[in-house]
Amino acid sequence: MQNFLQDIFYRPLRDLRISVIDRCNFRCTYCMPDKEDSRQYSFLKPGEWLSFEEIIRLTKLFVDCGVTKIRLTGGEPLLRPNLVELVGKLREIPGIKDLALTTNGFLLTQYARALKEAGLDRITVSLDALDARLFRQMNGGKGNLQKNLEGIAVCEGLDFDTIKINVVLQKGVNDGQVLDMVSYFKGKKAVLRFIEYMDVGNCNHWERRYVVPSREVVDLISARFPLRPLAAKEFGEVAARYEFVDGGGEVGFISSVTRPFCGTCTRGRISADGKLYTCLFASEGVDLRAPLRAGANEAELSALIKNVWQNRTDRYSELRTKIRSNPEPAHKVEMFQIGG
Ligand code: GTP
Ligand code: 5AD
Ligand code: SF4
Ligand code: SF4
Repeated sequence: MQNFLQDIFYRPLRDLRISVIDRCNFRCTYCMPDKEDSRQYSFLKPGEWLSFEEIIRLTKLFVDCGVTKIRLTGGEPLLRPNLVELVGKLREIPGIKDLALTTNGFLLTQYARALKEAGLDRITVSLDALDARLFRQMNGGKGNLQKNLEGIAVCEGLDFDTIKINVVLQKGVNDGQVLDMVSYFKGKKAVLRFIEYMDVGNCNHWERRYVVPSREVVDLISARFPLRPLAAKEFGEVAARYEFVDGGGEVGFISSVTRPFCGTCTRGRISADGKLYTCLFASEGVDLRAPLRAGANEAELSALIKNVWQNRTDRYSELRTKIRSNPEPAHKVEMFQIGG
């Protein structure tokens, strides 16, 4: 029987983002810059990852708590050996209405078809620039633009429900790419989403002056390709969506800095080592792996999950300005540990 859980602010638990690995083959400057401070982080060893059986067991418990959307993340999820097998196993769980994955795109040509055949509904690919040099600069010199574009094209030939392209904008870095990217993707199946650069983790040296407010991006695009706002499709949608007036599809804006959406945040996150986080900006997660491995039964695990969610008070983005005026912000979980 399904129980509809609510947190302290009456927000239900609907989405579960599962990080399957903390490693990544990219070093994006806004997530895991290849500098001293991030190199101090030691990646998990394979034995520390939740096994597929453990992921499936936990996912079933979350579905019983009301979760209907699952998103696999990383690090880079396609680096997790046999990920396609996990997708197939998740697909078999009754109650999952939406099974999605966020990837940096490097291995997409290799895996897209198998992921689709295993039952993945939707895919999201990161792509921060169409200029090859800038693209590489933003992912720490690790990526290959052509490979990403090929991967996206392969996905467009498969029958995914949606293909989304995530662009993290940084002022003075890639904000000059906006119109080129819109021209390239307009009319294609893949939908662009411009994301405000966020102060996640501890190593990207975020400053507000590097944020490009979505309002500016909407205005810039509208002046060339007129846009009109679309109504949200469902409760808790992260992106504000607009459509091109001429019928060229849609574009989304994720504005966690200038228009926080904590009020409708229905997302729980599990790190690759099995900690449950109730906010992208949390310092600590609650360990689910230890009780799993100590032999806890379903009722005990379920009680633990429910207790965490029912006591949830997170709304970091709404409080950001206040929190960051504190000279030493608390240590936060890294983006690559919980996948955004
Ligand atoms: P959809 O189900 O397609 O809407 O996916 P999504 O937008 O939730 O997932 P995706 O992994 O593509 O994330 C897009 C951007 O939104 C990333 O930069 C995420 O870090 C950010 N994001 C997603 N969920 C949250 C959230 O709960 N809070 C904040 N602040 N940012 C979020
Ligand atoms: N701000 C905004 N988005 C970010 N992402 C990673 N780091 C940040 C950040 N500091 C994005 C990635 C990916 C998604 C999961 O999160 O580009 O598309
Ligand atoms: Fe970039 Fe994602 Fe890897 Fe972070 S986890 S370095 S955002 S590709
Ligand atoms: Fe949810 Fe935290 Fe993001 Fe607010 S800041 S939307 S509570 S994850």
